[in-house]
Amino acid sequence: MINTGMLKFKNIDDKYGHLTPIESRNDIPFEIKRVYYITKVEAGVTRGFHSHRKLHQVLVCLNGTVKIRLKNPDEEEVVELNDPSKGLYIGPYIWREMFDFSEGSVLLVLASEFYDENDYIRNYDFYLEEAKKRF
Ligand code: TYD
Repeated sequence: MINTGMLKFKNIDDKYGHLTPIESRNDIPFEIKRVYYITKVEAGVTRGFHSHRKLHQVLVCLNGTVKIRLKNPDEEEVVELNDPSKGLYIGPYIWREMFDFSEGSVLLVLASEFYDENDYIRNYDFYLEEAKKRF
């Protein structure tokens, strides 16, 4: 889907475990300004329901599994994240919903900007209007 994509990170696996390095700009297509993570999501909960105007993000499921529903005015797609060495890039004007968090799952988010509520579009009808102007 436009403004989205899967990233594959380096995987250093040995008998001592699994290590994945992520370097700003080298491994993801922007400078990381903010990191947050989502944990302890109860069964049946769906989060997200928004798009961003400017923000670029990469989502990495560090443990367990989670599904991400991506939408633009013309398409809809569900991506399952279950591998800590893969990241889902989501750019501007993509609607996202996160659901089916498995017990103990950890969703890491790398973001290109500091938190700014004004960058959010949380109303789906308004999102469709604005996104149609861009795609
Ligand atoms: P939100 O981005 O809506 O979460 P999700 O899309 O996962 O459902 O954020 C939930 C709340 O947390 C909202 O009140 C804003 C706040 N928040 C911050 O204060 N800083 C942040 O970096 C983020 C991502 C959210």
